Amino acid sequence: MEYQSRGIDTNQPGVHDDLTKVVKKHLSANFRKPIAAHSEAVFAEVQERVDAWQGPIVLDSCCGVGESTLHLARQHPEALVIGVDKSAHRLAKNGSYGEAGERCLLVRADLNDFWRQAVAANWQPSHHYILYPNPWPKAKHLQRRWHGGALFPTILQLGGQLELRSNWRIYLDEFAAALALTGHTGQINPLSNDHHPMTPFERKYQATEQVLWQLQSKLC
Ligand SMILES: C[S@@+](CC[C@H](N)C(=O)[O-])C[C@H]1O[C@@H](n2cnc3c(N)ncnc32)[C@H](O)[C@@H]1O
Repeated sequence: MEYQSRGIDTNQPGVHDDLTKVVKKHLSANFRKPIAAHSEAVFAEVQERVDAWQGPIVLDSCCGVGESTLHLARQHPEALVIGVDKSAHRLAKNGSYGEAGERCLLVRADLNDFWRQAVAANWQPSHHYILYPNPWPKAKHLQRRWHGGALFPTILQLGGQLELRSNWRIYLDEFAAALALTGHTGQINPLSNDHHPMTPFERKYQATEQVLWQLQSKLC
């Protein structure tokens, strides 16, 4: 049976039946996939900027065009904000906007490598945002969601104040359930109707009057 929760087409009525099993499997395994050679080169450049910065770091994972990265730089005037996305096409749409723009670093990288590299380099971001990750709403795609994949333990290791947003409440319910398996709590709240959109996807969902959800969790 297909369920439609305003914009999301899914055959899942609630949290996936296999969530606990899948998350526990990844929590007890060590993800050993080698880091790609091009990821090493990209990360080395970013690390140079981080070494030179010597201040707080905010991570904007799945940043798309980087609009949120600039918003976050304004919101965190003390931080270097690093937006990461694998899509060169999306990142190319970004411009530079004054002082806050100078504290934004947009990186084309696969987070499957980048997050592990950041943990290996002992990064401790003060905040980590994952805004509107691809929902993968078909039940068979549970393991493509960040909490259902091998990188979930790495997200936890990165720490910081984590914030995820989605127009699919079940995605956040599942993330919170995965967090609970590790002793963390995730608070889920709707964004207010007059919330000023921070990303193109957020703007698009708001325009179709979808309820947008936010999960916050203190991981450090
Ligand atoms: C639905 S879009 C949201 C983009 C932006 N946060 C927004 O709200 O407009 C999801 C983004 O995640 C990025 N993404 C998905 N998997 C990724 C990965 N493994 N590494 C880096 N970026 C990834 C995609 O390229 C895409 O830009």
